[in-house]
Amino acid sequence: MSFDLVLFGGTGDLTWRKLMPALFQAFRHGKLPDGGRILAVARDERSDAEYRDYIRARFAGVEEAKQPSDEEYARFAGMLHYRRMDLSQPDDYRGLKAWVDARGADTVVLFLATSPHLFPVVCAQLGAAGLNAPHMRVVLEKPLGHDLASAREINRIVRAAYTEEQALRIDHYLGKPAVQNLMALRFGNALFEPLWRRESIANIQITLAESIGVGTRGDFYDRTGALRDMIQNHALQLLTMIAMEPPSTGDADAIRDEKLKVLKSLKPFTAEAVARDVVRGQYKAGTVGGQRVPGYLEEDKVPAGSACETFVALRTEVQNWRWAGVPFYLRTGKRMPARDAQIVVNFREVPHPIFPGTRAANKLVIKLQPEDGLELHLLAAKGGGGEERLYPVSLDLDFDKAFASERVGGYERLLMDALAGRLNLFVRSDEQEQAWRWVEPVLHAWRGDTLGPRPYAAGSWGPAAASALVARDGSAWAEEQ
Ligand code: BG6
Repeated sequence: MSFDLVLFGGTGDLTWRKLMPALFQAFRHGKLPDGGRILAVARDERSDAEYRDYIRARFAGVEEAKQPSDEEYARFAGMLHYRRMDLSQPDDYRGLKAWVDARGADTVVLFLATSPHLFPVVCAQLGAAGLNAPHMRVVLEKPLGHDLASAREINRIVRAAYTEEQALRIDHYLGKPAVQNLMALRFGNALFEPLWRRESIANIQITLAESIGVGTRGDFYDRTGALRDMIQNHALQLLTMIAMEPPSTGDADAIRDEKLKVLKSLKPFTAEAVARDVVRGQYKAGTVGGQRVPGYLEEDKVPAGSACETFVALRTEVQNWRWAGVPFYLRTGKRMPARDAQIVVNFREVPHPIFPGTRAANKLVIKLQPEDGLELHLLAAKGGGGEERLYPVSLDLDFDKAFASERVGGYERLLMDALAGRLNLFVRSDEQEQAWRWVEPVLHAWRGDTLGPRPYAAGSWGPAAASALVARDGSAWAEEQ
């Protein structure tokens, strides 16, 4: 299959930090179909050779095992091309169309790795130039809008040029191997299904913690905040994977229909519920990994006195027969003690204890980051005579070890799926809009709340109110158990 992959924003952060390393890994793994061209598009004038040197220099920042040798890079760089474009100029799109048509590749993927405010204009121009033929697809990176109205407006413009099947919305968490394993765990094994319901599960916790701060993205982040940046998309997507009903087939729409049903079943927020069930925080100076770090308000490009949240913890429920009454806790934050993304399924305690000692309940931990694995926590008896006591033990499955050489990174997987037209791991517009519909009352309530976010020290697990939120139901976050 021949392909043209066009990267708008070809000199931007996303392209050189994530997309090029992922494309190189795909190339190294022999997954990039032969006969492909990768065309980077950006504003400044440069030749193909200059662009290849520019990307080569940026590979120095990639972890060593993923860096190309000179020989590998020379072969990979043979696919790289560069084109100057002014994204407001129709002529430039016509020029791009001519470049693409001259080759006549089987598949053309147009990846918008630009600033999101350009999506409407770029999509409209692509459509006007005829860069929307059936063998062409457009890929959109988050954030798609900043609320329901703006997301709908983007979708309206995208839909005017492309069908739903041609418009691929990326949530890079869906490309993470652990997420595919979650599907495999739930729908490739019969073991957990009878337990995957309110009768056996006490609560579910999704934590997406980062130890980094906002870095150089202070201006973007301050317009966004943790709720829009991580909860509306990544955390909710994970929640749908956990809570969805088994789809009738593995087809993209069968899966996405089930995910949408979960989003529609989420308990809607009222103003009182936001005050009771949502905690927002903002980091102050503190210590992370032994290093003193500044508070959010001292970060570069953050406006003085900003009330932007860098932490959110919330409690919700999925209102259907399977999950009625089971709390789902979502939590994300910057400047937490560690980079740690995991889903913890806490099972109920035994109905009647006959052993003395700990009464810890079983839990299943699905680890996304830093390592990718599965832990099943059980209680076991430690022999030694006398009274039998129970102690926690865990069955620990490390996927990185189990499948060592075959692990594929999130962007690598999603880019290959985009080229192949596999839609399972892309977010449909109705899912995305429903997620906005659900978070909007929170944004609305915060606008009218003068108290602002609660402070927490960098290097802590967030404001104490986040612990209280879970303690209220008689539970605790994983690190407090
Ligand atoms: C992005 C957010 O979507 O996800 C960033 O905009 C965040 O703020 C990043 O740092 C986290 O991704 P990962 O894959 O490093 O957990």
